[in-house]
Amino acid sequence: MQGQALPGFRDFFPEELALRNHIFATWREVARRYGFQEYDGPPLEPLELYTQKSGDEIVQQLYSFRDRGDREVALRPEMTPTLARMVGARAQALKKPIRWFSIPQLFRYERQQRGRLREHFQLNMDIIGEASPLADAELIAAVIDIVRAFGFGPGEVQLRMSDRRVLHALLVAHGLTEAQLPAAYAAIDKSERVPREALAEQLEKAGCAARAIDGVFAVAALRGLPDVLRAVGAVPGGRGVADALSEAHAALVAMGLAAFVQIDLSIVRGLAYYTGIVFELFDTAKTLRAVCGGGRYDGLLKALGGVDLPALGFGMGDVVLGELLREHKRSFEAPGQLDAFLVAVSGDDVAPVLKLAHELRDRGVAVEYGLRHAVIRKQLELAVARGAARAVIVGPEERQAQAAVVRDLKAGTEEKVPLTRLLSGFFR
Ligand code: HAM
Repeated sequence: MQGQALPGFRDFFPEELALRNHIFATWREVARRYGFQEYDGPPLEPLELYTQKSGDEIVQQLYSFRDRGDREVALRPEMTPTLARMVGARAQALKKPIRWFSIPQLFRYERQQRGRLREHFQLNMDIIGEASPLADAELIAAVIDIVRAFGFGPGEVQLRMSDRRVLHALLVAHGLTEAQLPAAYAAIDKSERVPREALAEQLEKAGCAARAIDGVFAVAALRGLPDVLRAVGAVPGGRGVADALSEAHAALVAMGLAAFVQIDLSIVRGLAYYTGIVFELFDTAKTLRAVCGGGRYDGLLKALGGVDLPALGFGMGDVVLGELLREHKRSFEAPGQLDAFLVAVSGDDVAPVLKLAHELRDRGVAVEYGLRHAVIRKQLELAVARGAARAVIVGPEERQAQAAVVRDLKAGTEEKVPLTRLLSGFFR
């Protein structure tokens, strides 16, 4: 049909936009509680910003083209490279650690499916300039507090965390070479969605020996801190590689958030730039893709030509979160209800209604009136249809008395109220 939005793109009808605004408001509120400042960047960026460091998967999904000035450009598929560039440009002047958040709209040419569209809004919270695992715990706590703010408990959502340094040490001990590691990470990332045989085939193509392939699956199956510590303790060069993971986990326990957190080495993240702790938040029923994903990317700022600063962050999408809210029937009160609908009894009452409407709006009261004069019944019907709490009726008699009749449209009760009272806090 002509006039439809492109596949994977959304029209936001008012009730849908109300949900989006509710999600954004909750994100902003939690970010504020954590002392994060909001920033933004351009939606269109040089193509090479992503081809350099984001990894193949995202590069294949780019909306890219040559602009009229013959520049290769792309709609932003993620925010992290933009953030890295922005921080790099002002790194000297900014007080570290930088705690910034943003809610960009992102574009990826994905195969459209439930929870996966070609545009989405993504909360990004990042900390730059802090290597301590307390920073990792801080961001994970923010993720959990966001879902708690939406009313979810540990029975409904779980944060799964891992560490690329741990994965690296274990995989190398299982005989994988540095060159084979990207293939191993890709296989681990898909280990819950793709059959083992298919993944083994890909690993074989990457040159992995049978023993190494078994090793990849053994690593992906590790769960819980004790088992992870035992595994790293048993490999050469394993000493200390799980310290950051242990420390971040202990911090989350101290915050009282342990019930939300699992150590799970099948978490590796699809993006190429992660270097340390990585995490994803899932619904426990696992019917949806990850609500959120993030981790530490200590090398990215330097790699993009900027300063050498440790960095970490996460992205949480509005689409999957919206699905989760719908699935658990988490309703919310849509704001912006009309306080009053003004009714003019006769044509002569229209001008006084306009005056009163304006004076009320100046005082912050939400009011509307019929944009063409009609009989009272029609105006009252419109008032109800618009969801107004009250009708304020102005006729010749009320004008004479400097008053109006206020009808409570739910209770059906009426009272005569002086204009002075209407204008001084009656609607508060
Ligand atoms: P990501 O895992 O690609 O990470 O995306 C994060 C979240 O955004 C996902 O968990 C999902 O909820 C949502 N999302 C991603 N793609 C789509 C899509 N096509 N449709 C709907 N939702 C989607 C990143 O983008 C990293 N840059 C996050 C980050 C920030 N890491 C550090 N700082």
